[in-house]
Amino acid sequence: MIKLGVLLSGSGSNLQAIIDAIVEGRLNASIELVVSSRPDAFGLERAQKAGIPTVALTRETYIDPLAADALICEELQKVNVDYLVMAGYMRMVRSPLLQAFPNRIINIHPALLPAFPGAHGIADAFAAGVKVTGVTVHFASEIYDTGPIIAQRAIEVREDDTLESLEQRIHSVEHQLYPEVLQLIAQGRVSIREDGVVRIEEEAT
Ligand code: GRF
Repeated sequence: MIKLGVLLSGSGSNLQAIIDAIVEGRLNASIELVVSSRPDAFGLERAQKAGIPTVALTRETYIDPLAADALICEELQKVNVDYLVMAGYMRMVRSPLLQAFPNRIINIHPALLPAFPGAHGIADAFAAGVKVTGVTVHFASEIYDTGPIIAQRAIEVREDDTLESLEQRIHSVEHQLYPEVLQLIAQGRVSIREDGVVRIEEEAT
């Protein structure tokens, strides 16, 4: 059983997918704390409904980004979190968090990194006319949307896709993949090799 902290800024549909996976017994974890970078994030309501403690930060907190991260760190350490899960967190994680949780901060991105990083991964891929895009789960590093890749899932872009229809398919893959990857981590099957490549151990039979 791993103890998770979740960082978010918005709707929290990935948080919901993780909560559901825990409730349904597909993910051997608990969520100890949800931290939002905004007080109006819908994800906070989802957390409260699931009985998870929350901390809501404001724009003012981030005027000093290092102090903001130090504060988040303090809150997470109070509840003994093992891993930090970024789920639509629109701020960078900086040294206080990266040092407190080395290779223990995980992010999801709605494109096949290193292609289409940034806040508009789905729209950028759609506008580029790619035939395949997807979802990436990776360990966070000090540069946004980089860090060792844990898992990726490809999604075909159809000729009749609109941005909305593509977004929908990407989000539903995210909601499957994120809990699956977290379960691999909970099972202790994810490690980073010396060359920086992530290795996933076969399931013990
Ligand atoms: C997801 O598409 C995720 O990949 C990206 O931000 C979005 C968050 O959505 N980093 P939600 O808040 O989990 O609904």
